Amino acid sequence: MEQQMENRQVIFKGFIKRAPRETDMELKVGSIGGGLKAPAGPGAFLVKNLYLSCDPYMRGRMRGSRTSYIPPFVPGQPIEGFGVSKVIDSDDPDFKPGDLVSGMTGWEEYSLIRKSNQLRKIEQHDVPLSYHLGLLGMPGFTAYVGFHEICSPKQGDTVLVSAASGAVGQLVGQLAKLHGCYVVGSAGSSQKVDLLKNKLGFDEAFDYKEEPDLDAALKRYFPQGIDIYFDNVGGDMLDAALLNMRVDGRIAVCGMVSQHSQTNPQGIHNLFNLIPKRIKMQGFLQSDFLHLFPHFFNQVMEYYKQGKITYMEDTVRGLEHAPAAFVGLFLGRNVGKQVIHVASP
Ligand SMILES: NC(=O)c1ccc[n+]([C@@H]2O[C@H](COP(=O)([O-])OP(=O)(O)OC[C@H]3O[C@@H](n4cnc5c(N)ncnc54)[C@H](OP(=O)(O)O)[C@@H]3O)[C@@H](O)[C@H]2O)c1
Repeated sequence: MEQQMENRQVIFKGFIKRAPRETDMELKVGSIGGGLKAPAGPGAFLVKNLYLSCDPYMRGRMRGSRTSYIPPFVPGQPIEGFGVSKVIDSDDPDFKPGDLVSGMTGWEEYSLIRKSNQLRKIEQHDVPLSYHLGLLGMPGFTAYVGFHEICSPKQGDTVLVSAASGAVGQLVGQLAKLHGCYVVGSAGSSQKVDLLKNKLGFDEAFDYKEEPDLDAALKRYFPQGIDIYFDNVGGDMLDAALLNMRVDGRIAVCGMVSQHSQTNPQGIHNLFNLIPKRIKMQGFLQSDFLHLFPHFFNQVMEYYKQGKITYMEDTVRGLEHAPAAFVGLFLGRNVGKQVIHVASP
């Protein structure tokens, strides 16, 4: 008889127009059949999921809009996201049983996944596996290409990073320091501010929730103005940064996490500053730069091994806690890169 195994899954219940709640997802016990075999032929694998990643862009996949760069989740099916997994069965000569991989997978214990341009075999066994979801994965790569390809940094530049203690922000700040910049981070708690200054090496940091006037706060930290704003949040911080940019400033529009849960996104009032200050403001998607991934990987690995870079993770244990961890991203509960530990290899 064909072998069947229990497969616990986090199911996406349906599209939403507000901030995500735990009840938008549901833990179910499904099963995985097929004799625990991958479909025949190259490009399809059966994997056991070890670590899963919580990323803000996943909120966009709960919207039901087909106009985005990535399709919406399918109601009734497991949530999808980046993960680190072990290959259980595969016909593909490049991905053998026992290999560890990072790429798109399901929020479940076992998944059938397909080859894609973001599926990678993990060859390094001297860094924590979960780093392939953060420092050495999509968020780290976002920080790297956003800073080096979009911000045109120069030594001595003044740099503001928002959501600075998060998966992307913490690396942007450290790369900027390595580049000889003056770096200020904004984050949403005194604990995060302390970590930015005392663990991650930012020159300054402040709790934006404690600042009644963001414009005044930025004038305090940047009396000569901001050369680079790496924007992870949009909204009020973007508006205040626009008022404080220097001539020829650069704004990398990486994300707008403050707007993810708004039905009517907030307007930006200070765009006029782009003109007299000749500011370049550019959005980007990390996936447009994948040709640079090997370079990023080697460079950041080297920095990490030399002790020049550190990386903070916030790990929850157990698939059942994944919905709460995801919801927490939009409440600022995560301190560092949010990952879920599902199983050991
Ligand atoms: N363009 C790309 O290719 C690309 C790729 C990856 C990520 N991103 C974007 O990069 C940004 C950071 O992602 P991440 O993975 O590093 O997430 P993260 O910073 O690890 O987690 C999200 C953080 O956002 C902050 N936040 C939540 N709600 C907020 C609000 N209403 N106002 C201000 N801050 C809020 C919280 O930090 P505080 O406690 O500091 O508020 C929270 O911890 C996101 O906007 C994401 O969409 C873009």
